[in-house]
This record gives sequence, C-alpha cells and structure tokens, in this order.
Amino acid sequence: MNTFTQNQLKHIVARATCEKIKKQINAKTVLGIGSGSTVNYFVDALSNAKLSFGGAIPASENTKNLLIKRGIKVLELNSIDTLPLYIDGADEVDDKFYLVKGGGGALAREKVLASASEEFLCLVDFNKKVQKLGIFPIAIEILPMAKTFVEKQIKLLGGYSSLRKDFITDNGNFILDTQNLNADDPSLLETKLNNIAGVVASGIFSSQRPEKIIMANANGSITESKRTKN
Ligand code: 5RP
Repeated sequence: MNTFTQNQLKHIVARATCEKIKKQINAKTVLGIGSGSTVNYFVDALSNAKLSFGGAIPASENTKNLLIKRGIKVLELNSIDTLPLYIDGADEVDDKFYLVKGGGGALAREKVLASASEEFLCLVDFNKKVQKLGIFPIAIEILPMAKTFVEKQIKLLGGYSSLRKDFITDNGNFILDTQNLNADDPSLLETKLNNIAGVVASGIFSSQRPEKIIMANANGSITESKRTKN
C-alpha cells in the first residue's frame, strides 16, 4: 500500500477538487476561496489548469496574495450578487459534516463566504475526520478589548483558552484557542459562543456545513460525500 504524507494528501485532494469543479464552472462563475495549506494547493491547481472563470473572492489576505501571484482575478463579496461555489479546508470534520475551522485564523471571513455561497465544498485529508469535534482547539475570534471578559465566559462554559501569540486577524482582532468545551451538540456550542459579547466568530461551523466533502484517503484515493438533510 502507498503511504502518503499529509501534505501529499492535501495536494492530491486539491487537484481532485479542481478536476471536479471543471464541469460546474463557466467563464462567469465566481469562486469563494478559503484559507490554509490545502486551499493553497487548490489555488495552484486552479492556476495550472488554466480554467476560465469569473474571478475569486478570498477569505484571507494570504489567499488574496496567492491569487494575485497566480494571476487570478480577485473580487469582493460586496460587488457580486451570488456566490455559486465556496471551496475551503477544515481542521476537523465529523459524520454529520459539522466542522472545526480556524487553524489559520481566517474563520470569520470563511464563515461569511460559506454562508453566502450556494454550495460549500470542503476538501480534507483523512486525518481531519473525527468521531467528535473538539480535539483540535476551537479558535474564537474576539475583539481585543473584550479579551479578559471572553476568557472568563469560556471558563464558565468549562473550557480554557490561550491567546494566539503574535497573531492579529485580517480584521484586526485576537484569536483565543480554546479547549475542553463540550461539542457534543455543535449547534448549541456555536450558539453559546456567538452569544458572548465580544466574540466575532467561533471556529465551530454548524450553520455553515458544507454540501459536499471531498476527502483524500490514506491510500491516496478520493471519496466524495454529499450531505443529507439532517
Ligand atoms: C483556516 C482554516 C483552514 O481551512 C484549516 O485550518 C485547515 O488548514 P490546512 O488546509 O492548512 O490543514 O480553517 O482558518
């Protein structure tokens, strides 16, 4: 059996995703593009494939810079009517397509693009598949002035948090990486976090689950799964 590194699998799933979307895009299609290393491989694949499409809306300044470097037209969400397709990675995915995201700190804009899109395609390697969310620290973007207050509220929820060092989000905010929060019911946890004043967005994606997950398996094969209504 072939063994692949995680990076090779990210590359494989990125190329496979590019192949798949070829059939559903045309010269006018605008793509939302997330953030992270898997997405970077996807942008490379997109640029190598020389596909014709309307342009891309990036979820982070890093992705924006890469798109510009690869000669892909960058657009803004405010300038378009509809976003047919959003492509992004994740830190954790469970059986019901709930996600933990935010390892790269771009979760707030990623959530906006996932919400605004008609279809969210999530590309991952098998290492991201979990039985239950929350082993990977749940990132929470917060207003800097609310840091101490939000830390206390996280404690009241049974969690503990650490401020991401030397990191300011593209929106000028802080990230608290949290652990030990009860993610048995991801929607409930997301609501509780959203209800804390000073929280801009949390890394739990329960209202923004992807329609499809494209996963690179350990042997390099690709599995595509579609979310059912639940
Ligand atoms: C960034 C994200 C990324 O999608 C997530 O961290 C996965 O990153 P990678 O593809 O590098 O493993 O949510 O905020």
